[in-house]
Amino acid sequence: MRVFVAGATGAIGRQLVPRLVAAGHEVHGMTRSESKQAMLSELGAVPVVADALDPGQVAEAVSRARPDVIVHELTAIGAVDMRHFERDFAPTNRLRTEGTDHLLSAGQAVGVRRFVAQSFGAFLYARTGGAVKGEEDPLDSSPAREMRTMVAAVRHLEEAVMGADWTEGVVLRYGAFYGPGTAMAPGAEEFELIRRRKFPLVGDGGGVWSFIHIADAAEATVAAVEHGSRGAYNVVDDDPAPVAEWLPALAQTLGAKKPMRVPRFIGRLFAGEAGVVMMTEARGASNAKATRELSWHPAHPSSRQGFAAA
Ligand SMILES: NC(=O)c1ccc[n+]([C@@H]2O[C@H](COP(=O)([O-])OP(=O)(O)OC[C@H]3O[C@@H](n4cnc5c(N)ncnc54)[C@H](OP(=O)(O)O)[C@@H]3O)[C@@H](O)[C@H]2O)c1
Repeated sequence: MRVFVAGATGAIGRQLVPRLVAAGHEVHGMTRSESKQAMLSELGAVPVVADALDPGQVAEAVSRARPDVIVHELTAIGAVDMRHFERDFAPTNRLRTEGTDHLLSAGQAVGVRRFVAQSFGAFLYARTGGAVKGEEDPLDSSPAREMRTMVAAVRHLEEAVMGADWTEGVVLRYGAFYGPGTAMAPGAEEFELIRRRKFPLVGDGGGVWSFIHIADAAEATVAAVEHGSRGAYNVVDDDPAPVAEWLPALAQTLGAKKPMRVPRFIGRLFAGEAGVVMMTEARGASNAKATRELSWHPAHPSSRQGFAAA
C-alpha cells in the first residue's frame, strides 16, 4: 500500500516508517523541515515537506502521494511543565483539532481507504470504577482543569476520525511511551528527573499508568494500517501499574534512591492539579481488543522489565 505518515520524523514516526517499509509498503513521510528530508530518505520514505496547520500544503502533499492510508502521528509536546499543562499542550491541541481536520479533508479528496490517528490512552478514561479500562468505558468527563483543553482536543480527533463514514477511521490510544527517542529513555528528561530524585511519589501513588514501549507502539500501528477496523484500540502493555509500584521499581533500575513521598498539597505545588490527578487517580487501560483484533502482542509486556531494556 501507499502510506502517508504525518509526524514521520517524531519518536513514533522514526520507529514506524522503517517497519512499514520492511512490510513492503511505499511510505511518504511528512516534515516541516527541508533539513529532515535526508533522515526520512534514510528511513526508507519519500520525504514530503508541508506544515500540518496549512490546509493548502497538506492537500497538495496528500494529493501528490495518492496514499491508500494516512497515519496521523502529529504532536508538539516537547518538555511539559506540569504546572502549565494547558499552555504546554496548546500546540499539540491545534495539531489534534485543525491538523486532524486538514488531513481528513485531504484524505477524503483522494479517497483513502483507512485513516489511522494517534490518540492518548493514558489519563483519558473516567477516574471512577475499576482500575483498568476497555475501549467502551466512558472517558473522563471532568478532567483536572489544566487538562480540559487537552482532553477536548483528543475527543475532537477521535470523533472526527471515527465519524468519517467515507473511510475506515482508526484511533490508537497509546499508553505512555518509553524507549528510544522518548522522554523515558536513558539520559532523557523523565528518567533523569527520577534518577535525580526530582519525581516524587504523590499521595498514595494509587494512580494506575499504562505504558507502551515505542517499538511495540510502532508494531501495533503497522497492524492497524494493514487491517484495523473503524474504532478505538488501546495500545498499551499487559501490565498497568500503580505509581506506588512502578516508580520505586524504576528508580531502583536507574540506580537512584527511593523517590521522595509528598502529600497531595505539596505535589500540587510542583506538578499542579494535573500531576496530582495522574499520580493518584488515573486509570490504566486493557490491550485485550488490540491483541485480539490486530493479532499484535507487545514484545515488552511489562514496563517493569521493559524499562531496564530501554
Ligand atoms: N503516548 C505518549 O506517551 C506520547 C505521545 C506523544 C509524544 N510523547 C512524547 O513526548 C516527547 C516529545 O514529543 P513531541 O510531540 O515533541 O515530538 P516528536 O516525537 O518529535 O513528534 C512530533 C512530530 O510531529 C511533527 N510535527 C509537529 N508539528 C508539525 C507541523 N506543524 N507540521 C508538520 N509536522 C509537524 C514533527 O515533524 P517535524 O518536526 O519534522 O516537522 C514530528 O514528526 C517524546 O518523548 C514523545 O515520546 C509521548
